[in-house]
Amino acid sequence: MDFEITENSLKVINKNELKYDLPFLWIRDNCSCDQCRVKETQEKRFMLNAVPVNLKPQKIDFDNHLLNISWPDNHETSINLLELENFQKPRKPEKILWTNDFIPEYYDWNEFLHDTNIAIEAFNNFVIKGAICIKNAPSEPNSLEELAPRLGPIREVLFERIHNVSVDGHVYNIAHTSLEVPPHNDFASYSWPPSVQALHMLVNDCKGGESMIVDGYAVLKDLKEECPDFFKILCNFPVPFREFDEENETYAMEPIIRLNTNKEITGFRYSNQLMQMINPNLKGVDLFYQAYHELCIRVNSDKYKSKFRLESGHILLVSAHRVLHGRQEFKPDGKRHLQDAYYEMDNIENNLFLYKTKRGS
Ligand SMILES: [Fe+2]
Ligand SMILES: [Zn+2]
Repeated sequence: MDFEITENSLKVINKNELKYDLPFLWIRDNCSCDQCRVKETQEKRFMLNAVPVNLKPQKIDFDNHLLNISWPDNHETSINLLELENFQKPRKPEKILWTNDFIPEYYDWNEFLHDTNIAIEAFNNFVIKGAICIKNAPSEPNSLEELAPRLGPIREVLFERIHNVSVDGHVYNIAHTSLEVPPHNDFASYSWPPSVQALHMLVNDCKGGESMIVDGYAVLKDLKEECPDFFKILCNFPVPFREFDEENETYAMEPIIRLNTNKEITGFRYSNQLMQMINPNLKGVDLFYQAYHELCIRVNSDKYKSKFRLESGHILLVSAHRVLHGRQEFKPDGKRHLQDAYYEMDNIENNLFLYKTKRGS
């Protein structure tokens, strides 16, 4: 390992190849000594504004993989370059996208709640595929409360903490009719919609009403490849969404596709029923509608729809910023009662991490 000093950084060179170019401020900011960290928590305590912007080391030396730096105020910083290799490792399991031949994996309610190995397997699968089912759940109302110790706290939104979906309750949404509910995700009208949704079937004595789910990320990946211009428009054009009743109003104006700074898809916001009238004077409405038309064809195409029937005691769990849910029309010739609750993906990923660490893998 060799190094070379530039105006603002230290270049680490391995076998004539540049391995790292470390800005001096980066090195100083990442000092892990007891003065620069809160000892008990390992949180950063050092404040970058304590040093000048043109900070330069006084002395640099290498000891195997340890980079040792002395600063002009005699503070000393060591960086273990082996730790930087961790950036290569993914922090989360890689997603596998799917189309209409996908059926979610089923896990037993009791095993899911009480056997950590089953929970690890189920969560892994959930993070990778974005949908799983739980079977043999109680058909008692509000059983979704019992999932909270596993999934993390319930994310409350407007209306009931546990939503009732039936034709004879509070009607504020198309789901409370017997009409087909096209694929969508819930609460597109929130600036941060719930990222996990549980749909718990208590009673299903009606003909029809098959559940359908769509891997939104699969739809978007194909759209990006086949219609890159439309994809770009949907990443940028703000769309108004509103969920309301006589006493409530939630409203968000956000693009349909959310990307992170690496241009990876991190969110899909799609709800035909909650989408509002767009100001026709906005620049680009015509192009937006071209792009949205293409997206609607794809979301509603049979190519992507996975269909199955939720029976009494089944809970469908979806990663709600990725997977859209809906159901076919049903005949209101019997009882049909579904309950919904929301959770957050961050909490599930946290639990997966904790369970794995406890198990030692
Ligand atoms: Fe819904
Ligand atoms: Zn330090």
